[in-house]
Amino acid sequence: MGIRPIALIIAGLAAAGTAWAQDSDEMNIEGLEIVTETEAPEHLENLRTIYSGWRFRTDETQSLQLDDFENPAFVFIDQALDAFDEAGANGNACSTCHENGPEEFAGFTAAMPKVMDGKLTTTEDFLNGHRAETQGEEPWKWSSQDMQQMVALIGLQSRGMPVDVAIDGEAAPYWELGKEMYYTRYGQLELSCANCHEDNYGMMIRADHLSQGQTNGFPTYRLKQAKLISRHNRFRGCIRDTRAETFAEGSDEFRALELYVASRANGLSVETPAVRQ
Ligand code: HEC
Ligand code: HEC
Repeated sequence: MGIRPIALIIAGLAAAGTAWAQDSDEMNIEGLEIVTETEAPEHLENLRTIYSGWRFRTDETQSLQLDDFENPAFVFIDQALDAFDEAGANGNACSTCHENGPEEFAGFTAAMPKVMDGKLTTTEDFLNGHRAETQGEEPWKWSSQDMQQMVALIGLQSRGMPVDVAIDGEAAPYWELGKEMYYTRYGQLELSCANCHEDNYGMMIRADHLSQGQTNGFPTYRLKQAKLISRHNRFRGCIRDTRAETFAEGSDEFRALELYVASRANGLSVETPAVRQ
């Protein structure tokens, strides 16, 4: 199938078949410049420019992200800050060891996921392992608010830094698997991630203005769900929309996909926590 029939499927799903590009708004959060448009990383064969999903949102949604007092995700960031000081099962709080606060983690998220101890590791994986080791705690569920608000608090420390995940060396086989998934057509609609987010970004699909499907703002606060959404939850939703069976949150498949999708944003700023429709 070429581009044309795919565009027809999308137009068929859409309330209106109009297409318009990303807007030209610039993002500046309290003096911090956020790069929402830049040259695509070299490994991306089919795109010349990459854009943050923010550029495809309405003015009202965009404005919520420009002011941390307006950004509803900060309620959860505050909860994570409280959790940072709470003693775990063995009496240790995060702050017992990380005395300088979460600011110590600047740059961590920009390079995640990455291979640690021979295994592709997301921030969720890292936190569950680290909490068991240092606090004697049980794992958090992947998309629980306890987990996602801590992932967001850690991500916030990299806000404004360029996404820079490694795709070579030990990461290469995972990256290849993720890339293969990105171009695989799923479901009754036989649509791949690329069919929507590479071939047709800028189009309307139902009420949504299709972006490039970047993850540099995750976890994002979704207005529709009124909570923080994990990357894997978003992947699930997108695959489900093609009327396919989907992979589980925290599955090896989604880890690999997370790495590949993150690498498509190499060069854009980390925006965590973003606000989306
Ligand atoms: C018993 C001490 C201890 C406790 C408790 C602890 N950590 Fe750590 N943490 C460390 C050590 C040691 C390292 C590795 C050295 C470093 O990077 O600071 C580390 C590393 C990290 C890193 C990676 C930093 C990087 O740049 O590689 C993150 C993120 C992190 N911890 C978050 C947390 C969070 C969140 C909590 C609470 C849920 C927590 N830690 C609890 C000791 C602890
Ligand atoms: C049928 C079209 C379609 C397919 C196929 C699809 N998505 Fe999406 N996706 C959407 C729509 C619509 C949205 C919400 C609007 C937007 O941000 O593009 C979205 C949003 C996203 C977002 C959030 C972007 C942001 O800035 O918050 C990510 C990430 C994403 N998709 C990844 C994927 C991945 C990975 C795949 C393949 C597993 C995929 N999508 C497949 C339609 C699709």
